[in-house]
Amino acid sequence: MINAKNIILIGDGAIGSSFAFNCLTSGVGKSLGIIDINMKRVQGDVEDLMDALPYTSQENIYAANYTDCRYADLIVITAGIPQKPGQTRLELVQKNTAIIQDIATQIMANDFNGIILIASNPVDVLTEVVYKATGLPRNQIIGSGTALDSARLRSEIGQRFNVDARSVVGYIMGEHGDSEFPVWDFTTIGGKPIKAWVPKPQQADTLEAIGQKVKNAAYSIINQKGATFYGIAASLTRITAAILNDDRTPFALSIHLEGEYGLKDVAIGVPAVVGANGLERIIELDLNNADRQKLTESAQVLQKTYQGIQK
Ligand code: 2OP
Repeated sequence: MINAKNIILIGDGAIGSSFAFNCLTSGVGKSLGIIDINMKRVQGDVEDLMDALPYTSQENIYAANYTDCRYADLIVITAGIPQKPGQTRLELVQKNTAIIQDIATQIMANDFNGIILIASNPVDVLTEVVYKATGLPRNQIIGSGTALDSARLRSEIGQRFNVDARSVVGYIMGEHGDSEFPVWDFTTIGGKPIKAWVPKPQQADTLEAIGQKVKNAAYSIINQKGATFYGIAASLTRITAAILNDDRTPFALSIHLEGEYGLKDVAIGVPAVVGANGLERIIELDLNNADRQKLTESAQVLQKTYQGIQK
């Protein structure tokens, strides 16, 4: 699997095309095939991206079809209907399940046996849908989960405390959505716990404000520009690089749990190490009781949504 760098992107909307451009400019992958229901748009994007090749990495970019999945190492799915202003991610479940199930069927009809990275919303529920529909081992099915929310957390902390966001370690766990939560006990700046950075009297309000800002970030962006795409595209590019280069990087990702954190039969955002096998290991943090409770409640929201899908 190492040195294998063939990516297929399914879904060439704002997120997919930003991801493709980011892979090209960051030198991630060697070959990128793009599939969308609108193949005219794909052809346009391929031609546009190829104009950048003399300034970027030597990548093979092409308009793909599902038979190309046979030779892919990684399939990135961003297809589906995006959130509209005021809509929650969970409200997309019915329509996007139908789209994703159809994609999973077509991928598997071509004997795909690589790794699937999915970002379509509601990402946790759809990760579970892909896991069930493909029958692939869980290490090969990764949802972008709360990787983006965790990046938002690190970015916000970096701004507030005037430090490099890359020196912030911290996770948002749970649903990529309204029931997500920050795990403050494991959030550090340069190795020092975040709580030690905030004077005690301001601690609760400061942390609450950061958590709320992160949770509502997508609503704010969607209200202003109609969609979010650069943040998620950057997260997908980094996760893709970690898989293709076997970096063994921790991200908060949606993974089908099999007893970790006392949960099973649900895909939900937990910290996980990513490498050539996709999921390499889940990091089980020793959560305090309140956070454990939040994770359990978030899992219940997702399980209820999954069970409510009209088949
Ligand atoms: C985001 O959080 C909408 O899920 C997307 O940016």
